[in-house]
Amino acid sequence: MFEKFTDTAVVSNGVKMPCIGYGTWQTPDGETAKNCVKTAIELGYRHIDTAAAYGNEASVGEGIRESGVKRDELFIATKHWISERGYEKTIKAVEDSLTRLGLDYLDLYLIHWPMVQKINENWEEINADTWRGFEKMYKDGKIRAIGVSNFLPHHLESLKKNSTIAPMVNQIEFHPGYSQKEVVDYCKKEGILVQAWSPLGSGAVLKDEFLAGIAAKYNKSVAQLCIRYAIQNDIVPLPKSTNAERIADNMKVFDFSISAEDMEKIANMDVLGYSGFYPDDAPADVLYG
Ligand code: A2P
Repeated sequence: MFEKFTDTAVVSNGVKMPCIGYGTWQTPDGETAKNCVKTAIELGYRHIDTAAAYGNEASVGEGIRESGVKRDELFIATKHWISERGYEKTIKAVEDSLTRLGLDYLDLYLIHWPMVQKINENWEEINADTWRGFEKMYKDGKIRAIGVSNFLPHHLESLKKNSTIAPMVNQIEFHPGYSQKEVVDYCKKEGILVQAWSPLGSGAVLKDEFLAGIAAKYNKSVAQLCIRYAIQNDIVPLPKSTNAERIADNMKVFDFSISAEDMEKIANMDVLGYSGFYPDDAPADVLYG
């Protein structure tokens, strides 16, 4: 388990990933994204997570440059969007993200959403084709680690049959009230590192009284409890905040430990704060561009 903010997770190819990332989903492009990323890095974050679909890669890149921290001290992740599926388009998508970010390599690149049966019966072939583009860019040294996001075990099983390099990461929605035990267990068994998007349930779980009661016991906020919950599951959380104080608060999760009993209670909570985006059944505009 991670013991301090500067600890790293190690993915299957040996690449080290800082154990808490700064999330940028829903962070407005422009000054906000630039300043937030710069602030996060100044406060000590070394891992930044964005995506082509967030529409803020260029501003995230500016924030990175303005922080003045050297590129090799940072871990920068972005994601491939659904409209770029397929081998050739994927290669171009990587180049486009690099251009927008102003970088010459990525630390991590993820397939943002799997193609699924409901949308296209050739879903397995489409995912495999996209992945071949990932493998090529990985072998060419443009990306240090490759993975997926929102993949369920059967999507990962399919990719395993149709690829030569296994995904190193699966970034999924994970927070109290949505612990996705089956996906997490599968990934751990397969040596795939799990990252948590919306570790605070996009803010939706923060007012929950049951969680507030547990957090109070440890003199912590519910946000800190949620981040710690991911850490104690060996999951890398990617909390997002546009507020400097909260960005700093979200780092302070290494001076307490959630008891085994409370971990169990949180793991068994009813569904709470779920985005509604189930990979096999998300709205078509999420899965099919
Ligand atoms: P804000 O950006 O105004 O701080 P998630 O990371 O699960 O997507 O959640 C992000 C949401 O949680 C945002 O609405 C963010 O608001 C809020 N948030 C982030 N950190 C904290 C915190 N420490 N306390 C309260 N709310 C937070």
